[in-house]
Amino acid sequence: MIKTKSLFETVTLGSTTLDNRIGLAPMTRISATTKGWATDQMASYYTSFARGGFGLIITEGTYIDDKYSQTYLDQPGIALEEQAQSWKQVVDSVHAAGAKIFMQLQHSGPLSQGNRFADETIAPSAVQPKGEQLSFYLGEGPFQTPREITKEEIADVVKSFVHAAKRAQSVGFDGIEIHGANGYLLDAFLTDYANQREDEYGGSAENRVRLLVDIAEAVRDAVGQRFTVGMRISQAKVNDYTHKWAGKENEAEIIFGRLGKTGLDYLHVTEFEAWQPAFEPGEASLAALAKTYSQLPIIANGQLEDPEKATKIIEAGHADMITLGKGALANQDWAHKVQSGKPMTVFDSEKVLKPIAKIKAFEL
Ligand SMILES: Cc1cc2nc3c(=O)[nH]c(=O)nc-3n(C[C@H](O)[C@H](O)[C@H](O)COP(=O)(O)O)c2cc1C
Repeated sequence: MIKTKSLFETVTLGSTTLDNRIGLAPMTRISATTKGWATDQMASYYTSFARGGFGLIITEGTYIDDKYSQTYLDQPGIALEEQAQSWKQVVDSVHAAGAKIFMQLQHSGPLSQGNRFADETIAPSAVQPKGEQLSFYLGEGPFQTPREITKEEIADVVKSFVHAAKRAQSVGFDGIEIHGANGYLLDAFLTDYANQREDEYGGSAENRVRLLVDIAEAVRDAVGQRFTVGMRISQAKVNDYTHKWAGKENEAEIIFGRLGKTGLDYLHVTEFEAWQPAFEPGEASLAALAKTYSQLPIIANGQLEDPEKATKIIEAGHADMITLGKGALANQDWAHKVQSGKPMTVFDSEKVLKPIAKIKAFEL
């Protein structure tokens, strides 16, 4: 049997100490009410992973304001006080099962395909997103061309992240994760072709990461030190799987270097396969580069459901913990199975995605 002991050691992210190094990756399930309230069904869904031994639960991307941040219909929110209160049952239930829980805070930016508050979308620049809306979240056809966000609106977005983080803190979450990945608003700022601004938020990598830095600093200031604040970063996007940072390791150094000085407690780095080199030519994974340049604790994500691969990335010192998406959906008791040596169930989208989401068709 492979040695997986390091997966089961405690780890500390900011003010949160976890029983092990195994987390549930954030996964949108469009199973909230139309008003964006968390439901009983969501409480039992998240609790099942806590019971199955996951030390950390990261919620699905949750929208932060009643303007342009909602991405999908039936996505949960934390924009309004009633929405915040609805999460209490989720938090209490996960805590009772022995795990910690962070809320992922999301602003859709150009990739909104279902927002009950607005018909238009906003982005760093008026550039139509690549690809098509996600059919498994009930979208159809191309994305609309967004409107360029104004300076005043940028300041509002920062405030919305702050307010959402404080609401999450007030209902008992152990921390929040700022969604800076996958093509949504913050990642659109990071992305050269999506961000054509000529002000201090566009152009160089230093400028493109500025909004992420502003938000991280503002949230940290608002919530104090005794609340964990992390950020998720990726190269790939839900509408552009193969995107790579043009500036390669130099760009990684700037992005992770800047984020490392904001007061964030961790970075959550996701790649298609977490252990693969981030750039060609090169050897270091994006997680390893994040660790080197930010000097922060790193969570690695991307097909790490093989316990050997998960253990290796931690033992190599490239990450401090791992999260699982599809592997967790197929094995809500993944951590217990690893400990007992039981075989894993292989992910099957038909079986594991339909029960919670009101999904008509899902193709991964
Ligand atoms: C159904 C589904 C929903 C997802 N929703 C989110 C989300 O809300 N926020 C996010 O950052 N990533 C989201 N992701 C990406 C996952 O967090 C994860 O990065 C991805 O599944 C790769 O990890 P894996 O190989 O362990 O599945 C989602 C993935 C899936 C399969």
